Amino acid sequence: MSYTYSVLTASDRRALDGLEDLGGQKVMAVMARHGYTRLSYHVVEDDKAKIEAHLRAMVDEGANVIITTGGTGFAKRDVTPEATRAVIDKEAPGLAELMRYESYKITPHAMLSRQVCGIAKDSIIINLPGSVKAIEENLDVVLPLLSHGIDLIL
Ligand code: MTE
Repeated sequence: MSYTYSVLTASDRRALDGLEDLGGQKVMAVMARHGYTRLSYHVVEDDKAKIEAHLRAMVDEGANVIITTGGTGFAKRDVTPEATRAVIDKEAPGLAELMRYESYKITPHAMLSRQVCGIAKDSIIINLPGSVKAIEENLDVVLPLLSHGIDLIL
């Protein structure tokens, strides 16, 4: 049986201005390549309450992994980490630390991502930055750890 995942893109420009969500598409391409089955995918504006509501619905759907992209930086509208913290039961700081550490070797700007990871019921929530390049680089780092993490929760 394959593990399931859901994707949430947090972006005002994608949700409100109709900009194509290349980041969400990248997440789905990488996860499919690794054999994960998608349960849901949504694009939402950078609004803490709305992000939280989507995350809770994805947790209730029982996705093994929930990947967010975007809204982790320093801009005033960036609130994905705060919404994630409101939903998780336990933080998994090592995953976020590892992504920042490995990404720092590629670009020091990696330290400007406030991304958070944690466990909510049976789901692991992972924040990724919004750029397609960052998504690929960050997923490469955490994917090798995910299946063991999922097995420990279930
Ligand atoms: N991580 C990796 N691996 N590669 C990148 O290019 N970009 C950084 C950072 N993390 C980047 C990265 C930049 S420039 C920013 S501003 C932050 O992620 C936050 O991005 P976000 O606001 O789109 O979430």
